[in-house]
Amino acid sequence: MSEREEDESITEQRYESLEDLPGIGPSTAQKLRELGFHTVESLAMATVRELEPAGISEKKALAIISAARSSIGISFIRADELLKMRQSVLRLTTGSKALDKLLDGGLETQTITEFYGEYGSGKSQICHQLCVNVQLPPERGGLNGAALYIDTENTFRTERIVQMARYLGLDPENVVKNIIYAEAYTSDHQMFLLENADEVIKENNVKLVIVDSLTAHFRSEYLGREMLAARQQKLNKHMHRLIRLARAFNAVAVVTNQVMAKPDVFFGDAIHPIGGHIVGHTSHTRIYLRRASRGPVRIARLVSSPYLPEGEEIFKITENGIEDTSEEEKTKSSGR
Ligand code: GTP
Ligand code: MG
Repeated sequence: MSEREEDESITEQRYESLEDLPGIGPSTAQKLRELGFHTVESLAMATVRELEPAGISEKKALAIISAARSSIGISFIRADELLKMRQSVLRLTTGSKALDKLLDGGLETQTITEFYGEYGSGKSQICHQLCVNVQLPPERGGLNGAALYIDTENTFRTERIVQMARYLGLDPENVVKNIIYAEAYTSDHQMFLLENADEVIKENNVKLVIVDSLTAHFRSEYLGREMLAARQQKLNKHMHRLIRLARAFNAVAVVTNQVMAKPDVFFGDAIHPIGGHIVGHTSHTRIYLRRASRGPVRIARLVSSPYLPEGEEIFKITENGIEDTSEEEKTKSSGR
């Protein structure tokens, strides 16, 4: 053991619950829970200002956050710590080798991956597939974990999960049990669900958090130009919460966003996100999905990533789920 490692093993203490953290009594813990902080992990990702409403002074907040951070072994201050975090990034397979290749091995933990595209482009199908794949062992591209599915459009189908699980040789009953489902009725409800998800995530070993769709409620509730700023602010807050959960629990975060093609636009950007562009986040990978033609083939375009180059790959949606295309399908769609 190097001197530094030895040093760390002495200073790092594990805290299991909020009350174990120095300076948190039962009533402060209660207030923190009301604010959505149920676990040491979520406190580790809090900012000083967020703890203010619990009546915690700046100095005390800093001490609490830093104790929580050291307890779960993260800190954003030193570059070597950042590197350590980066090294703990895991990858989740999409079920298609081509799609995985586009993403340099699959969807990453600790960041948000956004799938956007028109209706029927396969956003929800990918979400379903990921819920099954996350339960696979790492040698099969999974994370041995559970999934949390926040559904805003009531499009989640258990039967589809069963179909996909069978194809992968998994026990469908078990697979279904490991998907925690919540329907969000309004944008506020959607935000509330995520704000209170940390405990569920921890208790169930959730390694995948899905919000499908991220924007549907927001775009139907916040109409018109004058509501735009308020909507973007809320969406930003929502995304922020999601990224923090993904980091705290080393989980994959996925959101979907619908876009509509504008047939009257001949030049430039013919694709227009209905909910407006989500303000780009530094750790945010965006994939644009579209149909190749009639049939099961879809085109995925990596539009932006913190560090991966842009690119395009094709895959298909079949009875089995998300799969690679055959050579014949590849040739056919190359003339797209
Ligand atoms: P919106 O939510 O409406 O914006 O669309 P989406 O992008 O979420 O589309 P979704 O993922 O629901 O894709 C629907 C498409 O997936 C259908 O049009 C079918 O082509 C395909 N699909 C869905 N279920 C099945 C299935 O059980 N078998 C097969 N072969 N294809 C399916
Ligand atoms: Mg959908």
